[in-house]
Amino acid sequence: MSNGAQNPTPPAAPQPLYAQVGVVGAGTMGHGIAHTLLRHGYAVALADSAEPALEAARQNIGRGLARDVEKGRLDEARRTAALGRLRTTASLMELGGAGLIVEAVSENFDVKASVFRALQPHCLPETIFASNTSSISITRLAAATGRPQLFVGLHFFNPVPVMKLVEIVAGLDTAATTLEAAERLAVSLDKTPVHSSDMPGFVSNRVLMPMINEAIFAVMEGVAEPQAVDTVMKLGMNHPMGPLELADFIGLDVCLDIMRVLYDGFHDSKYRPCPLLEKMVAGGRLGRKSGRGFYSYSGAART
Ligand code: CAA
Repeated sequence: MSNGAQNPTPPAAPQPLYAQVGVVGAGTMGHGIAHTLLRHGYAVALADSAEPALEAARQNIGRGLARDVEKGRLDEARRTAALGRLRTTASLMELGGAGLIVEAVSENFDVKASVFRALQPHCLPETIFASNTSSISITRLAAATGRPQLFVGLHFFNPVPVMKLVEIVAGLDTAATTLEAAERLAVSLDKTPVHSSDMPGFVSNRVLMPMINEAIFAVMEGVAEPQAVDTVMKLGMNHPMGPLELADFIGLDVCLDIMRVLYDGFHDSKYRPCPLLEKMVAGGRLGRKSGRGFYSYSGAART
């Protein structure tokens, strides 16, 4: 891919803060995090137990870096160098040399805890463990790792290469130096870090999910059709996506899981999941990833 003459000169290559960063989980969030790290000069070891997921991630990252060249965010030499710094592996042991590891596996406590337990014996004593969890308690995960002072929530937003926010979540025992390291990493990726304490939903999902849940109540109660609800929020409040379109984008199963975390965490009825959300998830209407949610999808397009 050539760098067109009309493109601006890409910014100078930043100085990476770690010789290597590990990313565990090659799904949407994991490969988005890996792409962002590579774009900003980091060497990345991306681990996933599923070889096809690693291959798909490599292709997505390749396409993303090519897009960065088209848009003038990278030049051709830096794209090639970035791809050369990506190592994919099915073995967590190969992340042993990383200064910081971001876990982005499925949103399940046992799965995440088992990743950290498996990493623990292979990592340097000073390696920082970060979780991209959107709702699981950082304190609880940290307690399962054996290094709670070096454990932090590093919550990225989808699509990771585009969204500017990183929510940094402090567990009960997270050291101030770990929080500073997380903040420096976010800044080095050209993101804006915002700190949150470890309470259900942190800040982002404490505010976002009840809005989405309320939008679903409005549909269930016949207040308005999904498209009308979304149009109100897009044109009236300047949201880039309406809440139902966004719920489809995030995944209705993920939205339901997060509402359950809020409800279980606060024991407050204002966080009860909308029955229509529960019904749609039970029926397999999970949004974009299943082809049907509040809208129908064919590939990336809404039909
Ligand atoms: N992956 C990677 N890049 C994507 C993308 C995707 N899925 N979708 C869009 N982009 C990129 C495009 O390539 C384009 O980048 P370029 O600079 O290279 O052109 C850029 O985003 C803008 O895209 P478009 O012009 O096609 O479309 P848009 O202006 O409508 O923006 C959007 C698309 C950025 C997704 C925008 O609709 C948006 O911001 N939506 C809200 C997203 C959001 O709220 N995300 C957070 C979800 S919550 C979460 O992640 C965490 C949680 O805990 C649940």
